[in-house]
Amino acid sequence: FPYKGDSIQILFVCRDICPILKDPKALAAVTDLFEEHVRRTYPQVDLIVGLDARGFLFGPLLAQRLGVGFAPIRKKGKLPGPTLSVAYSLEYAKAEAEIQEDAVSAGQKVLIVDDLLATGGTLYAACELIKQQKAEVLGCLVVIELKYLNGSEKLQSTPVFSLIQY
Ligand code: PRP
Ligand code: ADE
Repeated sequence: FPYKGDSIQILFVCRDICPILKDPKALAAVTDLFEEHVRRTYPQVDLIVGLDARGFLFGPLLAQRLGVGFAPIRKKGKLPGPTLSVAYSLEYAKAEAEIQEDAVSAGQKVLIVDDLLATGGTLYAACELIKQQKAEVLGCLVVIELKYLNGSEKLQSTPVFSLIQY
């Protein structure tokens, strides 16, 4: 424990998904594993929603494999037309997320895709946006989960599937 006056350094370890993107076999393997999981667990899925920005790298690939549509949730001010928005905080900042009002229809069964789960603030906000549209969140899929930040607890009953855990 530091004494009063000691400087405290907070270590932020950035987990990088770029090596996966650089390797076509690795990217295909990630998509294969997501697809297998969804076909086994959520055959009823209607729509994949991906999170700005790195969720866009994995979500559309999965949606194409499954033959369902893809909708983006973006950071504030990026989407044209009427939007719904929600404020949230993440591991190192505060932000606001938006979705187009007509992106999801009431009653649709949705899976949310992102690269990484840290504190869960971003995925929680995404779930709120989907619920505001009276659609159902079946679960969340991420490539990396930072278990020590307990993000899945924040998501309560919404299941999270992750490929790599730290
Ligand atoms: C990162 C990451 C997740 C989010 C996870 O995105 O891609 O979306 O943080 O953090 P949380 O679980 O604590 O909410 P970021 O907002 O940094 O945006 P980027 O994808 O545009 O880099
Ligand atoms: N987003 C939030 N926390 C992160 C981390 N530790 N590494 C990469 N992206 C992140």
